[in-house]
Amino acid sequence: MKPELQRRVQRYGWNKAAEHYNASWEAQLKPAQDRLMEISDPKPGERVLETACGTGLVTFRVAEAVKPDGEVLATDISDDMAELAYSAARERQVRNATFRRMDAEELEVEDGAFDLAMCGLGLMYVPDPLRALNEMHRALKPGGRAAVAIWGERKNCGWADIFPIVEKRVASDVCPMFFQQGTGDTLHASFRMAGFQDIEIDRFRVKLDFRDTDHAVTAAFSGGPVALAYNKFDEETRDGAHREYLDSIAPFRNGHGYQIPGEFVVARGIRPNQHPVT
Ligand SMILES: C[S@@+](CC[C@H](N)C(=O)[O-])C[C@H]1O[C@@H](n2cnc3c(N)ncnc32)[C@H](O)[C@@H]1O
Repeated sequence: MKPELQRRVQRYGWNKAAEHYNASWEAQLKPAQDRLMEISDPKPGERVLETACGTGLVTFRVAEAVKPDGEVLATDISDDMAELAYSAARERQVRNATFRRMDAEELEVEDGAFDLAMCGLGLMYVPDPLRALNEMHRALKPGGRAAVAIWGERKNCGWADIFPIVEKRVASDVCPMFFQQGTGDTLHASFRMAGFQDIEIDRFRVKLDFRDTDHAVTAAFSGGPVALAYNKFDEETRDGAHREYLDSIAPFRNGHGYQIPGEFVVARGIRPNQHPVT
């Protein structure tokens, strides 16, 4: 898939997913976001850049942690995600977070302006994740830190068939490289190539709880990256896709709901104070 097309699919797909996102994924992503908070350790007074902020689930926690003088610039490629996060910030009276629509690969920020650059569950969707890490590196002050959370290996994510099930019905890729960074040592290598040092990686398994069939189906089809394609399906295509997805997660049935295995990888690296002599 051409990078420009992938960016459009993401932008308009997440616009469609925005209203379903928190109800679908907030609880399931919390373990990864908790670890991201621990590993990035935002401190009072720090200036933080967040890419792929979504509805602000990480943003609000970081904004709280850097109070009273610190601030967060939260960015996302989806207009509706950024808008939703902005409205939620107003509702919660979060005054030290700003929201801007921005592509993770082309951050409209000054060089060396931030203490911390974060990306929670966003790198899987970016056409060139190394470019996004380079941008985070560029935005950091020397000694600043970058922290990222992503999904792990495909074989450890029980919901992964959602991609082929949707892709074969639209005859194109939806998320071509989704599991690339989470496989083996790839994320560590990407952090190193982007220029980070003292890299720390944590890989861990979780169980994703969905209370019933409707919750599992809505999360997979409407609350995430396949939402754009799914919105174009007619009813018969939807029914077929639902059946196939429910068959794929049937081994994880637990009473009325599901407990689907998943894996996350969380990483942190430091922008060195000066470039190493080569
Ligand atoms: C799974 S959500 C994660 C949201 C939030 N960080 C969280 O942890 O809940 C993925 C987000 O990545 C954003 N995204 C996808 N491609 C992007 C890109 N190229 N640049 C910036 N954001 C992107 C989507 O719009 C979406 O909001």
